[in-house]
Amino acid sequence: MSDQFKKQAAERAAEDVTSGMRLGIGTGSTAELFVHALARRVADGLNVIGVPTSERTRELASSLGIRLTTLDELPELDLTIDGADELDAHLALIKGGGGALLREKIVAGASAEMIVIADSSKEVATLGKFPLPIEVVPFGLKATRRAILHVLEDMGLPQNLDLRGGAEQPFLTDGGHYILDACLQEITDPGTLADRLVAIPGVVDHGLFLELATKAYVAGTDGVKTVLP
Ligand code: A5P
Repeated sequence: MSDQFKKQAAERAAEDVTSGMRLGIGTGSTAELFVHALARRVADGLNVIGVPTSERTRELASSLGIRLTTLDELPELDLTIDGADELDAHLALIKGGGGALLREKIVAGASAEMIVIADSSKEVATLGKFPLPIEVVPFGLKATRRAILHVLEDMGLPQNLDLRGGAEQPFLTDGGHYILDACLQEITDPGTLADRLVAIPGVVDHGLFLELATKAYVAGTDGVKTVLP
């Protein structure tokens, strides 16, 4: 069922794309459904150019005939369309379940607009049930981990940090970094947490996307609804 909802949200977002747009293209299962919907419109003559947020999305979009470039070639985008792991009523997001958070945030930040596409299971009153991905450089992992734990303790948040993939074979992002997943349950002050995490030298970025999304299409049993921040 949730796949059907993801597809409905993805197809609704594809309708918002107009010829000439410079698009950021997200990562994940919902974003992949958007890539398929976009490819169908491109086959019918829609003229767009896209910047993918991951190697995975690059391969899929290019195999479906969508014209692609890089952010270095095209540093200003009109619209990014991407999924999310959680969204609240103000369109604060947790992203990075698929590990592409850094490129996703850079691409969204370079876009005038960002549309989030999701099934209704992603909607929450307070962010935090989904573990917050924190991307860190491998050098000094233990020291960075301690600094993150200190911030969590200081903010009264649970101190649960898991190295994605495990110590034997840590998951590597497209940028060659590790991810620490923080199980926080309820992030009541995402702005402060975001600021304090990025201030730690070994932290590259984190999955809190604040004030980036300009609209969301959320699909559920009542159809596709539009959410504005
Ligand atoms: C990828 O890194 C993520 O940010 C995804 O956008 C997010 O995990 C949503 O993925 P699904 O659409 O697969 O749920």
